[in-house]
Amino acid sequence: MSGEPAIRVFDDPTATSRAAAAAMAAAFIEAVQARGRADWATTGGSTPAGIYRELAVAPLRDAVPWSSVHAWWGDERFVPRDHPLSNVMPFDQILMSTAARAGLSGTGADAAEVELGIEPGVWMPVENVHAPQVTNAITRATGIGSVALDYEAELRAAPLAVADSGLPIFDVMLVGIGSDGHVLSVFPGSPLFDGSAWVSAVPAPEHIEPHVARLTLHPGVLEAARLPIVVAHGAGKAAILASVLAGERDERKLPAQLARRDGAIWFLDRAAAASLPDPLSG
Ligand code: 6PG
Repeated sequence: MSGEPAIRVFDDPTATSRAAAAAMAAAFIEAVQARGRADWATTGGSTPAGIYRELAVAPLRDAVPWSSVHAWWGDERFVPRDHPLSNVMPFDQILMSTAARAGLSGTGADAAEVELGIEPGVWMPVENVHAPQVTNAITRATGIGSVALDYEAELRAAPLAVADSGLPIFDVMLVGIGSDGHVLSVFPGSPLFDGSAWVSAVPAPEHIEPHVARLTLHPGVLEAARLPIVVAHGAGKAAILASVLAGERDERKLPAQLARRDGAIWFLDRAAAASLPDPLSG
């Protein structure tokens, strides 16, 4: 991959999430205007919660044509959808406000209040939420391989354009980065660089938590995406960000460098950006 990303540095995680959410909303609007729908691959870990909170309330909630936005997952852990480690659960809880819609929020909030914007939450049709069907595979004991195959089939049936690399083109890919330089569930030394499957099962990593099997999109989707957005907060990310953004390029050793490309935007807070060389650190 060539070129360098735009790097934007903010005072704290809230300001970082707000700016990333605004850039994503603008890209959703543009994609819907240009192609009639926006395909968004979202992420897991701690990164997206703050972004979902921003997208779930005015002004972004009201600016985005949510009925034309389709959500996909860059990776998911092999746990039920309502498990604390699930990458889908924060999306359901914060962005979709499913508990309030089901009358289970514990606050008395209900579906009408979400629809009217009195309670946070976007009114995205459930058929636009393309979550990997891990819960089904666990209850039916069909295994993680079946989820990967089904997810790839669902993606291939969707009207996403396909890049010269043979991989689907997402309008927006939101990713976090791991302290070992992983992105998606593509870890350093991953064999997935040499494969062509759009979706693969990945054994539980031993070197990094959580030690749970996952499924992940092919690393090359980050090269194909129209707008990769990377978000990182906190001092714990400072060292790896310096290696990924200012060190020698070797995507197989540091898969997060797949998003070190022109057209990508990295949203960092000051603590995360602290070890970047001056010209990069904002
Ligand atoms: C996962 C991920 C992973 C994550 C990074 C950053 O399922 O583990 O999707 O790639 O985005 O590890 O995680 P944090 O946001 O928690 O720092």
